[in-house]
Amino acid sequence: MGTAATVVLGATVRKSGAQDTILQSRQALAAGAPSLSSVSFTVNGAARELEIDTRTTLLDALREHLHLTGSKKGCDQGQFGACTVIVGGRRVTSCLTLAVMHQGDSIITIEGLGTPENMHPMQAAFVKHDGYQCGYCTPGQICSAVAMLDEVKAGIPSHITADLNEDPELTNAELRERMSGNICRCGAYSNIAEAITEVAGRQA
Ligand code: FES
Repeated sequence: MGTAATVVLGATVRKSGAQDTILQSRQALAAGAPSLSSVSFTVNGAARELEIDTRTTLLDALREHLHLTGSKKGCDQGQFGACTVIVGGRRVTSCLTLAVMHQGDSIITIEGLGTPENMHPMQAAFVKHDGYQCGYCTPGQICSAVAMLDEVKAGIPSHITADLNEDPELTNAELRERMSGNICRCGAYSNIAEAITEVAGRQA
């Protein structure tokens, strides 16, 4: 950062604590040091507090800092969906959002949905219908499917919902459209669709 800019920012920073923090972050970045910030949120029902580099994605915070490695890093560009977690009831590709943006949020990962001894119905349905091969996409598929069914129940339309005045139905086409953000490189799509359809039928 140039001297002139520093002087200008130096004048600005006296106005508020928030601006002071921003200036310190910029100076730290300019010096090559990580800019740290604290964030607290709830993960799988437990309160967690982290002091992390502000550039840390939610995915990296979960995997590298909280050691919840169920959420997978596929592409780090939001196209694979293996990193999908549920934040405040909505599915989120955790590689595309910064951890510090989730102050106070409630986050659910695959580890929070169920355990091998006490599986979530969606996890059990994936096992029953063999909805995976290598399993790398599976945590994201399951988190996405759980939140997707809630979206349908809440009447949220998809890109292909024809009548916005009617409650959406989970047709095969709707299911595939709504799950299209979750790629399965092994091509287990038909089994994944069977598993989700079974859980949706049970919930209907
Ligand atoms: Fe291998 Fe989906 S089971 S990528």
